[in-house]
Amino acid sequence: MRARRALLYVPGDDMHKIQKATTLGVDCICLDLEDGVAYNRKAAARTTIAQALGTLDFGPAEKLVRINPVGSGLEVADLKEVLPGRPDGIVIPKVKTADQVHWVGDQLTAFEHQMNWSPGVIGLILLIETALGLLNLTEIAGAESRLHALIFGSEDLAGEIGAQRTPAGWEIFHARSLVLLHAAAREIQAVDMVFIDFHDLDALKAEAVQGAQLGFSGKQIIHPNQVEVVQSAFTPTNEVIEQARQLIAAYEDHQSAGQGAFALDGKMIDAPLIKSARNVLARAQAAGKL
Ligand code: COA
Ligand code: MG
Repeated sequence: MRARRALLYVPGDDMHKIQKATTLGVDCICLDLEDGVAYNRKAAARTTIAQALGTLDFGPAEKLVRINPVGSGLEVADLKEVLPGRPDGIVIPKVKTADQVHWVGDQLTAFEHQMNWSPGVIGLILLIETALGLLNLTEIAGAESRLHALIFGSEDLAGEIGAQRTPAGWEIFHARSLVLLHAAAREIQAVDMVFIDFHDLDALKAEAVQGAQLGFSGKQIIHPNQVEVVQSAFTPTNEVIEQARQLIAAYEDHQSAGQGAFALDGKMIDAPLIKSARNVLARAQAAGKL
C-alpha cells in the first residue's frame, strides 16, 4: 500500500506552483487539467505538464494528472500529451459510468503496449462527485484492476444536488460514506473531500481528523499550508501504533492458547479489533513509520 494522506492539486498551467509542489514532502501531486485551469489555458497546461513530467524530480511523491471528464471533448488531447511523461496515475473527474472508466483504461493499455511499459504501470484514480457516479458505484469501483483509489468530491456534488455547504457537512455525509464503503469493498483507498478555506488550519485539522476516524486514507488539498496538518492527521501516532502492536501480540497469544475472545485493559478483544489494528500498522508502514 502506498501512502495517499494528502493529494495536492496544482494548476497544470503554473510551472512555479508545480515546482513548489515537488519541494513540499506531499504524498501525491495532482497536476490539474480540469477545473483549476481556465478553458483558454488548457493547451498551455498540457504543454506545461508534459514539460514538468519530463524535467522535474518529484522525489517519492506520486505523480498524478487530472484530465478533463470523459465526454468533454478535451480528454483525448489531454491523454495524448501527458502520457509520454509517464505519470504514476491518471485521475478521472466527474465519473458517471463504468464505461467511461473502461474507455480510459483501454487508452492506457494501448499506450503501455505501444511504449513497451508493463501493463498497469499507469494507475487510475476516480473522482466520485456526481449523483449518477454515486448511484453507479457498484460497477464503477470494480471497473478496472489498475484502480488504486476513489476520491470523494463534495463541492461538485453539492452544486449538482442543490445542497448548501455547511461546516458540519450533513448535506454530503451520505455520499461521503458511500464512497468510503465502495472503496473498502474493493480493497482500494478512499480520499476525502477538499477543505477550501486554506487559512483556517484549525477547522482543516478537525475535518481531517474526522476523515481519518471515518476510515479515509487521506484528503484532497489545494494549498501548501495544508500539507503538514493533513498528513499528520492521517498518520497513526506512536501511541496508537504501540497499542495496535500490543493488541495483535495479545491476540496471537490467546489464539495459540485456544481463546478467540479475551479481556485486555478491561475491554473485550476479538477478531474485528485485530483487523482494525492491522489496518493501523499498514497505514503506519505506508507513511514510513515502521
Ligand atoms: N500548489 C503548489 N504551490 C502552491 C499552491 C498549490 N496548489 N497554491 C499556492 N501555492 C504557492 C504559491 O505559488 C506561493 O508560492 P511563492 O510563495 O513561492 O510565491 C505560495 O504557495 C503561497 O501561495 P498564496 O499566495 O497563499 O496563494 P495564491 O494566491 O498564490 O493561490 C490558490 C491561491 C487558491 C489560487 C492556489 O492555492 C491554488 O491554485 N490552489 C489549487 C487550486 C486548484 O487546483 N483547484 C482545483 C482542484 S479543487
Ligand atoms: Mg470537481
